[in-house]
Amino acid sequence: TGRAAAAVERLTRWRDDFPTPGVRFADLTPVFADAEGFRTVVDCLASCGPDADLVAGVDARGFLIGAAVAASLGTGVLAVRKAGKLPPPVISREYELEYGTAALEIPADGIDLAGKRVLLLDDVLATGGTLAAAANLFTQVGAQVIAAAVVLELTFLNGRDRQGDYPLTSIVKV
Ligand code: PRP
Repeated sequence: TGRAAAAVERLTRWRDDFPTPGVRFADLTPVFADAEGFRTVVDCLASCGPDADLVAGVDARGFLIGAAVAASLGTGVLAVRKAGKLPPPVISREYELEYGTAALEIPADGIDLAGKRVLLLDDVLATGGTLAAAANLFTQVGAQVIAAAVVLELTFLNGRDRQGDYPLTSIVKV
């Protein structure tokens, strides 16, 4: 919605050369710390997957919105973790970083994911590798990513091109 986008545009902290030279970092911390910003962002993200029966949030800032959206929709929340945080057995998916690779993981047992309708959330879409890896985890276990949504999309990095066939919503595109 317009109010969510306005809050994101007003409150995002942009910083050049963080975490590495040449990168312009979008820090959404003040958006989430603002009552109106957080509420309107959560409402907007929740509207992207009204039929979801599970909300997934990507490590680490995706946890904040994932939990709030899940509570709003009345679903459970699944934290998609960076590698090494969850005890085995896990399902793991690698993705590319600027130098080398990283991996995202979810538990391989204890959660019945087959047939689940997943709304997948993260704060920022940059190169798109993180979101694509997270989505692949769910398709691998027979769940369906019915929609993905992010707060901020950095369009110049073309992350949207790396996504699957799920609809992808971003509240603000820059
Ligand atoms: C940031 C952001 C997304 C990801 C987007 O997370 O929160 O998860 O990068 O980048 P991509 O589209 O190029 O894959 P980061 O890796 O900094 O992890 P953090 O949230 O744990 O700090």
